[in-house]
Amino acid sequence: MHSVVSQDANGDGAAPQLAPADVDLSVQLGPLHLDNPIMTASGTAGLGLEMEPFFDLAEAGAIVVKTITKAPRKGNPLPRLSETPSGLLNSIGLPNKGIDAFIEKTLPLLAGKSRCLVVNIAGGCHGEFSELAGRLDGLPGIDALELNISCPNVEDGNLPFARDPDVVKDLVAEVRSATSLPLITKLSPNVTDVASIAQAAKEGGSDAVSLINTVLGMSVDWRSGQPGLGTVIGGLSGPAVKPIALRMCLEVKRAVEIPIIGIGGIMSADDALEFLTVGASAVQVGTAHYKVPDIVPRLIAGLRERLAGAGRASVREQIASMKVP
Ligand SMILES: Cc1cc2nc3c(=O)[nH]c(=O)nc-3n(C[C@H](O)[C@H](O)[C@H](O)COP(=O)(O)O)c2cc1C
Repeated sequence: MHSVVSQDANGDGAAPQLAPADVDLSVQLGPLHLDNPIMTASGTAGLGLEMEPFFDLAEAGAIVVKTITKAPRKGNPLPRLSETPSGLLNSIGLPNKGIDAFIEKTLPLLAGKSRCLVVNIAGGCHGEFSELAGRLDGLPGIDALELNISCPNVEDGNLPFARDPDVVKDLVAEVRSATSLPLITKLSPNVTDVASIAQAAKEGGSDAVSLINTVLGMSVDWRSGQPGLGTVIGGLSGPAVKPIALRMCLEVKRAVEIPIIGIGGIMSADDALEFLTVGASAVQVGTAHYKVPDIVPRLIAGLRERLAGAGRASVREQIASMKVP
């Protein structure tokens, strides 16, 4: 039974207003249940623990840790970040201490701190992805894996896995057979037909897709000819990419029956609701952490307020009301 903030106080017969606290924010992503649809985006909230000074990790629908690889990685040459007027360019290069350190040192500190813990993994070949998935399978505290397929496939000319539907289907199928954990495949926007990649991920056995990773871009100082990033080309994130991400979520929604997690330029509850209106069942927030470190609880509060104001008793009602053709 929902409580109300006013029981027809004006006596005008208008429907009683819903209290924000009573809005049910829970969502289902295939086998994965989230208390609310706000997740952190990989690589922008560290290993999760770094965010503890800013919010209680248990408030997030899910914490997604930065990409973990088999061997430790130092990351790319500096500079790794370059600000643009409406987005952030990065070329971080997946620095991390490798899977052994993650399992031995980080996981014991992280386990149980969030309602849902998603470990993002990347490999240089199919075997590395499935080996990582196998190592993480059954470890206490891990609720799902997210596959970062935007990384280069060293067995295939260093082209990202994410570009080829056949490669994606085989990769996901191999990972699927290595773990019983729910699988989220994270899609790259740097492809011609994102729906065909989502379809391939589904056929390989992915339970959900998340999109988008960063959009290829660069910056340059015309006077010196000096590029903004050490690797010259990097990935753009932040408000500039939101329209691209919305378009791609809609394209996947129209073509493939699979739960979608929307990512790209979310800075406000309205942004999050836009993704939930074009077919996403949850969202991830990335670059916004750098401006507003406690963005997660702010988005959750904002969702409650807006949905209550719109007379929605649950976020699932909003998702089901999707009207975009
Ligand atoms: C500094 C930075 C580091 C990132 N590192 C990763 C990463 O390790 N793994 C990954 O899958 N995505 C990574 N991403 C991509 C984000 O998770 C997200 O997909 C992208 O930034 C778009 O969302 P946003 O506009 O909300 O930031 C990174 C993004 C940024 C800005």
